[in-house]
Amino acid sequence: MNKIAILYGTSGGSVESVAKQVQDLFEGNADIYNVLDVSLSEIEDYKYIIVGTSTTGIGDLQDDWEGFLPSFAKIDFTGKKVAIFALGDSASYSTSFAESMKVVYDEIHDKVEVVGKVPDVGYTYDDSTAVEDGVWVGLPLDEDNEYDLTEERLIKWVEQLKKEFV
Ligand SMILES: Cc1cc2nc3c(=O)[nH]c(=O)nc-3n(C[C@H](O)[C@H](O)[C@H](O)COP(=O)(O)O)c2cc1C
Repeated sequence: MNKIAILYGTSGGSVESVAKQVQDLFEGNADIYNVLDVSLSEIEDYKYIIVGTSTTGIGDLQDDWEGFLPSFAKIDFTGKKVAIFALGDSASYSTSFAESMKVVYDEIHDKVEVVGKVPDVGYTYDDSTAVEDGVWVGLPLDEDNEYDLTEERLIKWVEQLKKEFV
């Protein structure tokens, strides 16, 4: 498999820790970058890219990703695939759960194939723009209330990505 770039933005460290778990699950096949200090030249040669973000405001993109997204969207995505995971808090922000993934998705889905979509099964929340016809546009995770489910969700997702990143 071609090497993977994991691009994460974090406000309090949770996305970073999840991004490192994703990197470990790819067993040496993934490099990891904080979007706060990455340059496009470092990442534009990767065929497969994983975006990791958290949700802030009401359904908004994490601050560092907000700054980086306009440049990211200008990459030449020919031949590439992108997967997205987003952290959220399904209890306190039940009507905008993990919506940050939709902000990224809307910006890139007409330019690149987005993989790593998962069925809306096993999540408890009221509403999210990131679900279309019962399918999330990426992987939602809730480190605030469901941290005990994160590992199994990631294992399953990475198995899925290993099949889709071809
Ligand atoms: C000010 C603020 C606004 C938030 N808004 C949302 C939201 O709209 N939807 C959601 O699912 N989670 C929301 N969250 C929860 C965070 O996305 C969640 O705690 C995440 O794990 C933070 O990850 P990070 O510390 O790596 O940035 C919000 C958290 C804060 C502090």
